Amino acid sequence: MSDPRHIAIIMDGNGRWATARGLPRSAGHRAGVESLRAIVHHAGVTGLEWLTFFAFSSENWSRPDGEVRELLALLKMFIRRDLADLHRKNVHISVIGERDNLSADVRGLLVEAETLTRANTGLNLVIAFNYGARDELTRAMRRLAIDVAAGRLDPQSISADLISANLDTSGMPDPDLIIRTSGEMRLSNFLLWQAAYAEFLFVPCMWPDFTPAVFEEAIEAYRSRDRRFGGVNSKQCCKESPELLAVATASDGVAS
Ligand code: FPP
Repeated sequence: MSDPRHIAIIMDGNGRWATARGLPRSAGHRAGVESLRAIVHHAGVTGLEWLTFFAFSSENWSRPDGEVRELLALLKMFIRRDLADLHRKNVHISVIGERDNLSADVRGLLVEAETLTRANTGLNLVIAFNYGARDELTRAMRRLAIDVAAGRLDPQSISADLISANLDTSGMPDPDLIIRTSGEMRLSNFLLWQAAYAEFLFVPCMWPDFTPAVFEEAIEAYRSRDRRFGGVNSKQCCKESPELLAVATASDGVAS
């Protein structure tokens, strides 16, 4: 299978990584930023097209105040410190998620990152911040409903493509591969619509231990997957039908 165009990552396990070392959870988040930096650099060098990180979910506000403050501070520090370097590396930055309830300084930094890197043609780095897929879909549905109510939109013309075009990810390819670290096996409200045909990989290591080598192993595992997008591949179909298997085997050039 060809290489993934778009990889999305749920960075999980920062807290457990820190606790296992007798450190405060904030140390895990700081170490997590180092992993993120290393993966962004690696993806840029290896020519990946799209890379999305789930950095802060719309549900993360329910964490203790101190931890929320720390995560917001890390995002701000990341943009202030790394933006110039990412721009030099031709990285194009977009941010998905609800902006309205973010403070003006955070909103300003997100706009600054997007504006500065708008014309860049290298890695497309997407940061999901204050993001929740149900919230994203709700905002999109509300917008379409307003257009229907105003007579600007015929309900019959609402299609999957129109819904996609109204999501925060409008214009981005769907993720081919979604990786979650820490061994947890769930999506946690991440890219629910866009993940319709994504491959999933759940890796046991905690996010701060996720290295470019593990990233490459994940891509290798993806290459061995059989993506059918709701169809069948010829070999699978043929297993159920000996006649077709003979045809497929012959066309493979293998004597039967
Ligand atoms: C999950 O670990 C991780 C998060 C909720 C936040 C991830 C954020 C960063 C790595 C840093 C901030 C992002 C940017 C873009 C600078 P957890 O705390 O849920 O870990 P646990 O499940 O072990 O408790």
